[in-house]
Amino acid sequence: MNRIKPVIVLCLLCSINIVFAQPKTISQKVEALLKKMTLAEKIGQLNQYNGNWEATGPVTTDVGDKLDAIKHGEVGSVLNIVGVKHTRVFQEAAMQSRLKIPLLFGQDVIHGYSITFPIPLAEAASWDLSAIERSARIAATEAAAGGIHWTFAPMVDIARDPRWGRVMEGAGEDPYLGSLIATARVHGFQGKGLGNLDAVMACAKHFTAYGAAIGGRDYNSVDMSLRTLWEIYLPPFKAAVDAGVGTFMNSFNDLNGIPASGNHYLQTDILKGKWGFKGFIVSDWGSIGEMINHGYVKDNYQAAEVAINAGNDMDMESRSYINNLAKLVADKKVPIQRIDDAVRRILTKKYELGLFNDPYRFSDADREKHVMNTPESVAAARDVARKSIVLLKNEHNLLPLSKDLNSIALIGPLVKAKGEMKGFWSLNVGDESQIVSLYEGMQQAAGKSKLLYAKGCDITDTSKAGFDEAYKTAMQADVVIMAMGERPDMTGEAKSRSNIHLPGVQEELIKAISATGKPLVVLLMSGRPMVFNWTADHVPAILYTWWLGNQAGNAIADVLYGNYNPAAKLPITFPRTEGQIPIYYDHYNTGRPAHGDKDVNYTSAYIDLQNSPKYAFGYGLSYTTFGYSNLKFSKKSMAKDGEITVTFDLQNTGKYAGEEVAQLYLRQLVSQPVRPVKELKGFQKVMLQPGETKTISFTINKEKLAFYNDQLQRITQPGEFSLMIGSASDDIRLQDNFFLSH
Ligand code: BGC
Repeated sequence: MNRIKPVIVLCLLCSINIVFAQPKTISQKVEALLKKMTLAEKIGQLNQYNGNWEATGPVTTDVGDKLDAIKHGEVGSVLNIVGVKHTRVFQEAAMQSRLKIPLLFGQDVIHGYSITFPIPLAEAASWDLSAIERSARIAATEAAAGGIHWTFAPMVDIARDPRWGRVMEGAGEDPYLGSLIATARVHGFQGKGLGNLDAVMACAKHFTAYGAAIGGRDYNSVDMSLRTLWEIYLPPFKAAVDAGVGTFMNSFNDLNGIPASGNHYLQTDILKGKWGFKGFIVSDWGSIGEMINHGYVKDNYQAAEVAINAGNDMDMESRSYINNLAKLVADKKVPIQRIDDAVRRILTKKYELGLFNDPYRFSDADREKHVMNTPESVAAARDVARKSIVLLKNEHNLLPLSKDLNSIALIGPLVKAKGEMKGFWSLNVGDESQIVSLYEGMQQAAGKSKLLYAKGCDITDTSKAGFDEAYKTAMQADVVIMAMGERPDMTGEAKSRSNIHLPGVQEELIKAISATGKPLVVLLMSGRPMVFNWTADHVPAILYTWWLGNQAGNAIADVLYGNYNPAAKLPITFPRTEGQIPIYYDHYNTGRPAHGDKDVNYTSAYIDLQNSPKYAFGYGLSYTTFGYSNLKFSKKSMAKDGEITVTFDLQNTGKYAGEEVAQLYLRQLVSQPVRPVKELKGFQKVMLQPGETKTISFTINKEKLAFYNDQLQRITQPGEFSLMIGSASDDIRLQDNFFLSH
């Protein structure tokens, strides 16, 4: 017995020694590595360069030899380097650095990688969270197989100004819908978690309030109350944190005079403090250095000091950190603990991605070949594309088209467009032959022999030379379908427009073709809400198709022929004209609200324009119709921690099977501060056969009634609430009031 004891003690000591000597958890591994790093190596991890592939920002001059810098441990991440062949070359350089810390490869995988999905704003119109998640999932699977570890998506900026070119990149105007979509996209990109070979790390951007750029002009200042910030602009970012997003990107704008990249309140107090975000923050392209232009700092030395101390961890393309942080630490302007914290956050993600186990695990040429554009992905792209198409108008049930039509005239500058269907932010679609144009989709659906074609005009050109031929072509057909819109590069970054009308002479062409008296369907392709009042008022059938990606033509044909019954709803308000902007449904009532569009008698109105939008948030038709009835409350008064269940019957009252997005809006009638006239607080997308009725229920709880007071505390106030259930924000079908007691 006595002889055994020393052996046991020895074994115990050995195992304790192993525990101490061999870090087990990621955190222990990070700490162990951190101890080995020089200050220069730490600063290297905070430095991100563009890979000289496709630049997505202004290229900085005098970049030197990047591979050499990588070998010297001066680079932590590279963006815009694509394909396993190229990423491998860069990773091999990193493996020649002293500590062999792997590089992180980032790219803007915004709506698909090899196969392009609809632009994010279009997908938001589907109100279909699982379709949206699937789209991000496929993008992640392809991107990860292409060597990418990290996507700069989702963009979760609330956008209420369609002049801003980047409205196309987000989920529209509403914080509730935007938060759910942010969650779906983060889950889609990150899949079952970082470390899986089909997952890429997501990045919630742009933190924050970038979408509220004054005048809709990209990169412009943002000036807003902190209450609006908390109520409207922050919720989708908080949702991304709760969904486990790995990283954040800050933004180009200043918020109330403080550039986002140097904003301590946003990055440290809110994001890393109050919300407990454990990932890292990357700057936007050059945004640290741009604080000099803002007039916030005098040089790059001060820019680096302000940014790192505010909480920005990685510097994208400013070179402010790499050139200044060592001196800033020596000058005691930046505590080494802040540098360590930033490095720790970045290394943790590299460990989570499994890059320390195998830096080339995302550089597998065989996987790259087999994962792209699979038949399942193509089917998913077609599915979400048709789910994104909004039926704006359908007089006399012109749509769906009868299968017996003998001839169909396809007219307009976008009928045969292919590459255009990608929309902005699709960097990797090499083979445009895989994109299905409207013409090709209609050939498949109708047969080539039935199709007539005339271009009619260009998108922005003002020549009407093609009008005659288009008129003659229309005259020969049973029905005319016109494909009109913007150029895809008229939305996107740095693509703000002051005039969001249908460009060029396109609306004149629509008038000319309408004069033929032929049944007319107009398809509108764009990355933003446009103004097209004549068309809206005179053309019997209109589909808003945005940019739908690879399967655009097939998806549109599916909808035109009724193989798919449209169910999308606008995620953003369409104004009557630019003078109404910013326009959104959840505004306050004001002290002098106008009662209807004609009430201008000392009311909050324009004397030359209605207040109502052209198409409201949540609007979108179906080939069938829906009836709402039988609203019931489980009780009419709830205590603060209680619940009310609300039920109603939703019936398909038309001839086609179809889906309805039933929307729940709430309004607190008296409150300090005041509350909006209605706020979206729930929705359900419900499939119904003709004649079928389903009972739908929503639960009202404290969370749905809470808001931020002027102290920025999230509270509820007792009082009376109006509950509205409808088919759009301006089409409320059922309404009743209830009470919240103390
Ligand atoms: C954009 C970001 C993008 C970055 C990298 C910037 O210009 O604002 O959204 O992720 O470039 O491409």
